[in-house]
Amino acid sequence: MLASGLSRGVGVIGAGYVGLTLSVFLASKGVKTICVEKDRVKVRKIMDGVSPIHEQGLPELLHHVVRNGVLEARDEIGDMMERVEIVFITVGTPTGSDGVPDLSQVKEASRQVGEAMSTSRAARPLIVVKSTVLPGTTWHVVRPIIEEVSGRSCGDGFHLCVNPEFLREGSALQDTMNPDRIIIGAKHSEAAERLKKFYEALYHPSKIPTIITTPTNAELIKLATNAYLALKISFINLISQICEATEDGDVGVIAEGLGLDPRIGPLFLRAGLGFGGSCLPKDLRALRWFAASRGVDTSLLEAIIGINRAQRLRAVEKAESMLGGLSGKRVAVLGLAFKPGTDDIREAASIDIIRELLARGAEVRVHDPAALENARQVLGESVTYCSGLYECLNGADLAIIATEWPEYADIDPSTIKSLMRKTLIIDGRRILNTRRLMEEGIRVHTVGLHNPLA
Ligand SMILES: NC(=O)c1ccc[n+]([C@@H]2O[C@H](COP(=O)([O-])OP(=O)(O)OC[C@H]3O[C@@H](n4cnc5c(N)ncnc54)[C@H](O)[C@@H]3O)[C@@H](O)[C@H]2O)c1
Repeated sequence: MLASGLSRGVGVIGAGYVGLTLSVFLASKGVKTICVEKDRVKVRKIMDGVSPIHEQGLPELLHHVVRNGVLEARDEIGDMMERVEIVFITVGTPTGSDGVPDLSQVKEASRQVGEAMSTSRAARPLIVVKSTVLPGTTWHVVRPIIEEVSGRSCGDGFHLCVNPEFLREGSALQDTMNPDRIIIGAKHSEAAERLKKFYEALYHPSKIPTIITTPTNAELIKLATNAYLALKISFINLISQICEATEDGDVGVIAEGLGLDPRIGPLFLRAGLGFGGSCLPKDLRALRWFAASRGVDTSLLEAIIGINRAQRLRAVEKAESMLGGLSGKRVAVLGLAFKPGTDDIREAASIDIIRELLARGAEVRVHDPAALENARQVLGESVTYCSGLYECLNGADLAIIATEWPEYADIDPSTIKSLMRKTLIIDGRRILNTRRLMEEGIRVHTVGLHNPLA
């Protein structure tokens, strides 16, 4: 019997931000973990002890658990079922711009699990859907596929749970090690109890608040969480637009005052260029689509999405007005990742901003401490990639801070003055000391701050 309470190991399907972090964490706890990833490049990297993603603390721990043989990555499920008791499905669930969820990865993973189960003698493996899915998906899409392909029925031949993930990129490992809650959705109480016991052993002696509920509720808790976080961000961005239209408004002070109200709380009240990343935008679109398909009024969700889109465009419009037109102007975009601490550029504000700058005729140079390579896959040769911050600022007419990487907060005013052709900055993430820079003769527009001089 292992420390986790299991007599065998754990399988994880999909080595993305969620699956790889989970795998490394489980392995670090001594749970023999097999991670199945269809991308062979990722598999090779993992088996070489190299992390394919940028996450604080992950490379070191990954290297350690692979070297010790506790974590194994492979590109096929093979005999995994004989060696594990629990299988987590952590594949991607993208959403099209219309909001229709693309379940192809979930379906494929379910089929693979079903096939592996059909030839396995392992009794009642526990299958756990960790991917974010719409209400009903686990019971009405995943279950029938596994049942049909494996020839086993849910409850007797295997157990099935939904267990949404709440980690934040940038602190994925920390969040996986210290979850704020565990949500388990299952139709069979025995299935839920198995997963609950596993987590109790894993997180012992900490006691993590745990809710056991139906699959639908578990699926909706995840989506409602992301919609609410997005709502807070769009709300404060709306207030930031109002601040800019006042005599001397500052959204930072408003957010501080709001956050002191215990009914509101201070988190996710940071005005800026809006939310991005692999979760909030797509989950919001999926929820909107689901609500609309059930005849529920989606105007609140539309407004959250609309404000977020507008916030990005406003930055470009501000750049255009500060420069008196963008055609032929050189703009440095500082930060590409959707937030600091990650190399993930999925739905990042920077990408929309860059595309709009290019469409309006600007020449764009970009910098990011971690996400340059991922950006190259999306932006191709349309921009100039700079490995150094100062190289990026060189000869620029204007700079936009699109990600709040800490190093951008410390940009030296004299360096800005010596490198940039015009010293104009849009602080899209409110990290600069605006007053100090303005005193040095640098024009700074800070989102949510009324500044007639910018
Ligand atoms: N990234 C986050 O911050 C986060 C947080 C909470 C929840 N989630 C949810 O978790 C899920 C995974 O997110 P992610 O960001 O880790 O996705 P990701 O795209 O980074 O990773 C998914 C991985 O699964 C692999 N894959 C797909 N189908 C496979 C298959 N059949 N067999 C083996 N590998 C397969 C892909 O190659 C990819 O590496 C999504 O539903 C997402 O919404 C993500």
